[in-house]
Order: sequence, then structure tokens, then C-alpha cells
Amino acid sequence: MPIPLKTGAEIDGMRLAGRLASEVLDLLAEHVRPGVTTLELDRIAHEHITRVQGAVPATLGYAPPGYPAYPASLCSSINDVVCHGIPDERPLKNGDIVNVDVTVIKDGWHGDNSRMYVVGETSIAARRLCRLTFDAMWKGIVKVRPGARLGDIGHAIQTFAEAAGFSVVREFCGHGVGARFHEEPQVLHYGRPGTLEELVPGMIFTIEPMINAGRREIKEDRRGNRPYDGWTIVTRDRSLSAQWEHTVLVTDTAYEVLTVSAGSPPPPDFAPLGYNAAGAPVARQGSVATAATAP
Ligand code: MF3
Ligand code: CO
Ligand code: CO
Repeated sequence: MPIPLKTGAEIDGMRLAGRLASEVLDLLAEHVRPGVTTLELDRIAHEHITRVQGAVPATLGYAPPGYPAYPASLCSSINDVVCHGIPDERPLKNGDIVNVDVTVIKDGWHGDNSRMYVVGETSIAARRLCRLTFDAMWKGIVKVRPGARLGDIGHAIQTFAEAAGFSVVREFCGHGVGARFHEEPQVLHYGRPGTLEELVPGMIFTIEPMINAGRREIKEDRRGNRPYDGWTIVTRDRSLSAQWEHTVLVTDTAYEVLTVSAGSPPPPDFAPLGYNAAGAPVARQGSVATAATAP
């Protein structure tokens, strides 16, 4: 299957979906605090997406082959949960780190993004993992330009994370996104420069590294007496795991991050938000990260 290339109005549709997805994460920031349950966060997101945005939560009822239908409008992955945590009635605790992953469908277009949030105050080690993972995502994003290859992105992320003593999860990857939630290409967060598909203007895909504080191996979450929920993935060694995700467009000159809104954490110093038509870096937005959002 070829990689879908987007043009004109399709890109406008993806820009809107991306902004809306990011605005859901903005909205959630003030609600992420000790005592709140992830089911409450899910309800807040669901109401905003459906009633305010006139959009559809892409995860609700999502059932790829071999998986049960996903039962919620976001994923909430706490501490050693790597990804796809299902919202439940357990309250968040001071010191938890939680990834919230939201995908909205607006006018048929998908915007997919996630951020880390710190619940109250957490350890220096946990903060460092969240920050490192954010920077790792951006190390990948800044590789995006026509003529670069997918392996350049994976290599940049892997070398950066491993130099800090962390590990990169291999079993899950970024993905093309557009009229479908998950489409080609696969975007690995590890690899070798100069390998894999060449990037072409109009490609849109996510970059969403999952970085573990310990070893990279993962497993299905089969703790406790509950049967496996079919989704939740944890680190095999129970070390902390973090993830950030943006949806990114390959432009004629470099990249444009589509999942951007007023509350987006500003990119690191080494990364402009995007480039204008002349190829000049677009100034970084002076957005304010809220207290609940790491970094
Ligand atoms: N949003 C996730 C991603 O980044 C996918 C979640 S699928 C779900 O690709 F069913 F678990 F919600
Ligand atoms: Co994604
Ligand atoms: Co996502």
C-alpha cells in the first residue's frame, strides 16, 4: 500500500484536527491532580470533543484486528504503564506520571497526540524521564524534511535516549495518519540513518517515542485478579515509562507540527516549530506550559 500524500484542503483538515486534539490536552492539564480518576479525565475529554468541538473520539470503539473494542475516549498510561492504559476509577496519586493520548476525528481527519503530566510533585528521576522523552520526540521531529529517511528519525531518537541511559520500546511505533487512524508508513523510534522510506512533501505521520527508565522489554498487564483488558502494556521490569506524541506534516522545506495549540509546551531550544514557505524557521510560540504538564 502506498503512503497517502495530502494536499491543499486535506492539509487544512489535518491542521484543524491536530489543533483540536492538542486543545483537549490543554483542557485536561488543570484537571490532572491528586485524587482525580482517569475516568473523570475521560469524561471531560469526551464531553469537550463531542459537544464543544463537534468531533469524534477516535479511540472509542476502536478495534483493530486481534483487539477488543477500546472502551474510552483517551488512553491514560500511569508510571510503569507504557501505553494504551484504559481509564478507570482509581484516583491519581501525588508523584504519579501519566501519559494522556487523545485522537480526534474532525470532518473525517484524524489528529493524534499525547503529553506527559506530573501529578502534584514527583521525583527528579521521573521528571528527567519525562523531559528526556519530550526532547527525544523533538530530536526525531527536527529530522523531518524532504529527502530525509524514516531511519534518520528513529536513529536520532534512539541515540539520544540511550545516551541518557534510557531504552526505547520497539513493539510500538509512530504511524501515518489522515483519513484513517493508523496508515502507512510505520515510524520506528530506533534504527539506522539513511535507511527506510524517503520523506516526501505531503506525508503526515506521528512521532511518539515510548522511553523506559529501565530495560526496553514490555509485557501485557496481567496484575491482580482481573482478566487482561486486552490493551494495557507495562514495562517488564516495572520501571517508569514515558511518551510524547505529535502529528507532523512533511512540507516542501522541512516540517510542520500539526498538533499545536495555545497550551502546547514550547519546543526545546534546538527545535523550531516549523518552517515557512521560504524555508526559514518559524519562531517558536510563546506558549505557557501549565503546572500539570511536564516538562
Ligand atoms: N493514540 C494511540 C496512538 O498514538 C492509539 C490508541 S488506540 C487505543 O497510536 F485503542 F488504545 F486507544
Ligand atoms: Co499515534
Ligand atoms: Co496517540
